Amino acid sequence: PLARSLSMSSLSGLPLWEEEDLPVENLLLFEVAWEVTNKVGGIYTVIQTKAKITVDEWGENFFMMGPYYEHNIKTQVEKCDPPHPAIKKAMEALNENGCPVYFGRWLIEGSPYVILFDTGAAAWNLDRWKGDLWEHCGIGLPFHDREANDALLFGSMTAWFFKELTDQLGDSPNVLAHFHEWQAGVGLILCRSRKIPIATIFTTHATLLGRYLCAGNVDFYNNLDKFNIDQEAGERQIYHRYCLERAAAHCAHVFTTVSQITAVEAKHMLHRKPDVVTPNGLNIKKFSAMHEFQNLHSTNKRRIQEFIRGHFYGHLDFNLQKTLFFFIAGRYEFSNKGADIFLESLARLNYLLRVHKSDVTVVVFFIMPAKTNNYNIETLKGQAVRKQLWDTAHTVKEKFGTRLYEALLKGDLPDMNTILERDDFTIMKRAIYATQRQSLPPVTTHNMLDDSTDPILANIRRIGLFNARADRVKIVFHPEFLSSASPLLPMDYEEFVRGCHLGVFPSYYEPWGYTPGECTVMGIPSVTTNLSGFGCFMEEHVSDPTAYGIYIVDRRHRTADESCNQLTQFMFGFCQQSRRQRIIQRNRTERLSDLLDWRYLGRFYMHARSMALSRAFPDKFWMEPLSPPQTEGFRYPRPGSVPPSPSASVHSTPHHSDEDEPYDEDEEAERDRQNIKAPFSLGPTNE
Ligand code: UDP
Ligand code: G6P
Ligand code: GLC
Repeated sequence: PLARSLSMSSLSGLPLWEEEDLPVENLLLFEVAWEVTNKVGGIYTVIQTKAKITVDEWGENFFMMGPYYEHNIKTQVEKCDPPHPAIKKAMEALNENGCPVYFGRWLIEGSPYVILFDTGAAAWNLDRWKGDLWEHCGIGLPFHDREANDALLFGSMTAWFFKELTDQLGDSPNVLAHFHEWQAGVGLILCRSRKIPIATIFTTHATLLGRYLCAGNVDFYNNLDKFNIDQEAGERQIYHRYCLERAAAHCAHVFTTVSQITAVEAKHMLHRKPDVVTPNGLNIKKFSAMHEFQNLHSTNKRRIQEFIRGHFYGHLDFNLQKTLFFFIAGRYEFSNKGADIFLESLARLNYLLRVHKSDVTVVVFFIMPAKTNNYNIETLKGQAVRKQLWDTAHTVKEKFGTRLYEALLKGDLPDMNTILERDDFTIMKRAIYATQRQSLPPVTTHNMLDDSTDPILANIRRIGLFNARADRVKIVFHPEFLSSASPLLPMDYEEFVRGCHLGVFPSYYEPWGYTPGECTVMGIPSVTTNLSGFGCFMEEHVSDPTAYGIYIVDRRHRTADESCNQLTQFMFGFCQQSRRQRIIQRNRTERLSDLLDWRYLGRFYMHARSMALSRAFPDKFWMEPLSPPQTEGFRYPRPGSVPPSPSASVHSTPHHSDEDEPYDEDEEAERDRQNIKAPFSLGPTNE
């Protein structure tokens, strides 16, 4: 039977949990996902950040399974021999039959073992495996859907691997396999239809239909129970994918998803209610110096300012000390990610800042990958001009310094009228002339392939935010993920986020949404919505999210126009804060990190695993009808210095306004920590 013990109270003051200790030494755990060592979007973040706590719990008995891509292996994986003889044998069976499998350690925190399947090299089996899928499951895959074909290759290989493995092992140790998203789900379906004796979990991070319907401007949430889902899937030409997703959800011993909102969606779109909700966490690292993250904000902000100096050369008539950096980032799903209402709200913000004659300028970055061919010339030129000004200043400074030094050596004060020569002025004038430009600073950094139809550009044209001098809101669309190797903005995503002031993620469709959570743990305020899993989670667990720098736009009960107004007010309120208020707010934001730590949220995965084992092997693994770990009823209290009325803090803010008022950050933090010891009770018994 599963042993149980009560956990210690967590240091952060977060509620107690009932722990479910599994006899991991008699088990092997496999986590299967297309994004293992292979970055696409948020699922990679789940897999990669969770590795550490899973390795801590499972040690050498934990393995991740993903696709093999040579480039990824070269940069992220250290090959080695499988430590377990049965795994070695199972891999050999595939290798000997022309389906290459690789083993190694993934070089991330926790260094988990990875088993990687070369789907490309196994593609010669595609037709046969399609036949198998059709014969056993009645699902046919069209030849042109590359992603679905890859999923089938990957699934057939993983299922084959589990067959060989369990043949080797018998029933000791038992195998538990956790599959993520429909791409990996094919393996689960095949394992179950072939009656391979493993316990299975399927986690979906979205539903295909949900994503497609929302992107198609459907009133999704008010009609969840009204869609004819088979028909909708057919009309969108994703019927086969939808069948795979639905089959995986139904075949799994335990079905989970990442938020309550997606659980409801899954119930309607897949017709199975998830057994457990497994909210997404992060691997939180605390700095030993409390305010180190504030320093990081400062240094990274300076790097962004440098980029801005180049990008806006010749138009730097705004004060960089009073310039705020906002950004939106993620896969380019224009309306699902809320880029549509963001742009509209920016137009309104621009208007408000102008009529209020605000001296604040907002530079807004859109980091969303689109099809491009390289950086555009004007953008590259901007950085070149900036560099030239820097070099010129440096050269003149050197000459100036030398002459000053020589004068002092002679015991003279230098003659300021002659210390610089005519030539020095000439090169300075030439450098200044080079900063003249005929055009406005570009709104995009790259040459867009679909320039005329691109939705962000089309909307920028509509609202007329072209980086004109009078505009208080400036736009920089960077249609590529960030990289420290970029010649333009050489920063990785984390550095960039740290340097910004506000992340804006007003999503309409967002099962979880890592981007605002990542901002939170870096102490950067962000905007989210009550249609995102993250936003709902924060609304549930934080008494006054706004005071903590989590602005939640209501997209559930309001019209798009009303949501735009609310978002505009949030941003306008943010612009009115003083530097001191921003610093205080960042401290508060960062304080919420504990709530997002895998050490805390990982319990939901543990619970799902216990449940799967007790369902797959009821004779061996018995589970009391225990409630799942609940966060219900737990709330972070309003921070000490914010007045009790929610309306008073609606514009965000730590209402500790005056710059000169004495204020003890640490004292406030300590007071909050005391308050956080909220009573914790187990929720209702799980049916
Ligand atoms: N991201 C990144 N580089 C960028 C922008 C975003 O690596 O330039 C990452 C970000 O850190 C986050 C992920 O992309 O972990 C997006 O995940 P999210 O859950 O927000 O959305 P998804 O793409 O899964 O829908
Ligand atoms: C951090 C630094 C401060 C700096 C501030 C700027 O808190 O520790 O030294 O003044 O950032 O904040 P701002 O919101 O204006 O970028
Ligand atoms: C999906 C969702 C995103 C979520 C991520 C990780 O890609 O779109 O909202 O954060 O998976 O669960």
